[in-house]
Amino acid sequence: MTPCNTSDPTQSPGPLFTNSLIGPTQASESRHGVITETEAYNALWAVLDHSSGHDSRIHGELHWSAVAAAGYHLCKMAPEADPRIVLLFAMFHDAARESDGHDPEHGARAAELAYKLQESGDLELDDEQLATLEEALTLHDKGQTSADPTIGACWDSDRINLYRVGITPEASFMSTEGGRSLVGTKRAEYFPIFVFSWTAIFLNFEALMGPGEHVYLRFGDLPESGFSHYSSYTRPEEGVSVYPGHKSRSTYQIDTRRLMMGTETRFVRHLLHQGRPLYVVEGEHIGMGGSGEPVLADAHIVREVTPDDCIEVLPKIPEVEECIEWWRSKRRGESVGEFPYPLETSLSCDRSAERAEDVLTAHGLGGVFDTPLGRAYLEIKSKLKLVQRYQRELWRDPSNAAVRQRAMQAGFELSSATHKLKERSKTPRQRELEKQHHDLYRRTQW
Ligand SMILES: [Fe+2]
Ligand SMILES: [Fe+2]
Repeated sequence: MTPCNTSDPTQSPGPLFTNSLIGPTQASESRHGVITETEAYNALWAVLDHSSGHDSRIHGELHWSAVAAAGYHLCKMAPEADPRIVLLFAMFHDAARESDGHDPEHGARAAELAYKLQESGDLELDDEQLATLEEALTLHDKGQTSADPTIGACWDSDRINLYRVGITPEASFMSTEGGRSLVGTKRAEYFPIFVFSWTAIFLNFEALMGPGEHVYLRFGDLPESGFSHYSSYTRPEEGVSVYPGHKSRSTYQIDTRRLMMGTETRFVRHLLHQGRPLYVVEGEHIGMGGSGEPVLADAHIVREVTPDDCIEVLPKIPEVEECIEWWRSKRRGESVGEFPYPLETSLSCDRSAERAEDVLTAHGLGGVFDTPLGRAYLEIKSKLKLVQRYQRELWRDPSNAAVRQRAMQAGFELSSATHKLKERSKTPRQRELEKQHHDLYRRTQW
């Protein structure tokens, strides 16, 4: 059989990790205008250049990314909020701090920085957007709530991250319905515990605001229980795990670049190897799973993506494309040769875990983080810092194979450290429930 022709003359194949799907040249259909990955990275660079506290464990860049991830979810719940402002707020709001202690004017200084970068051309906001950003930044440290949907989403995305310093957020201090509904839920605790990729955050914001048909794709039938299971640890997800994707003309694209914890194509390759059917799925996007993938409640299958459909995995990597062709033949019932990817080594990260322990010890941790959970949290944060650094380097120099290799290794170590944190933070009751679920899961379906 002839493989599907996936070449699209209107889209450059693009460098790995950076090929922006929506593209900067398409007109926005959103009333707020699209913030592209490029524009967002430029803003991040500018903020980093002007921030002395970006290395802070509590208020630094890693906190900014967690606020951005929470902001993305709040924007999904509140279409009237302006995602561009919510994303910029996350990057700016603590960037002008002079210390991690009492610093009552850090919001006003952040607003000054925003004005400065607008004047220098690093930001391109209209007057109304600049005024909204200024108000959100200036007042974010004053303990208020706001009826403005954009400012409310900004402040709630920061407040939901209070878990990181051992404070439980209160619904009465939240400004938005989305923020109030998150308080007290398990997934609210994810934002300060999970660690996020800027590239994924930016691409998700871009997809949230941009035109095009965004779809959820899933390999394999929906679990009867309604809960997916993540193979690397024993906790069930809160719903059904799916891949974020796009339908571009006749092509279905699985976009692993939008996995919030960093690009991950190893798992896709395993799923292709299993020859599972591929479906377009709909449901309520309620949070994220263990790979930073969307998790849906009330998921249902819309249609099957057949071997005759055009399918791509982003970023486009030649060996993954070979795996897709292998899957295509298997789904068609044709005889297949050896799988073009060495599966036996792909999910091993034991040695990375040992190195993670070394990094933790080298940190000499203490203070509010001097607990098993706190130490594990910092361990993860140190990994993400590496992943984010390599992603930024790749963004500037996509053809640098050495950096890509280091980024992948850092990604493995990050996922290993994250799994360890989840294991450590479980209660005995959770472990028992997970065992029951795991047993049920093994009996029913993969
Ligand atoms: Fe702040
Ligand atoms: Fe903050």
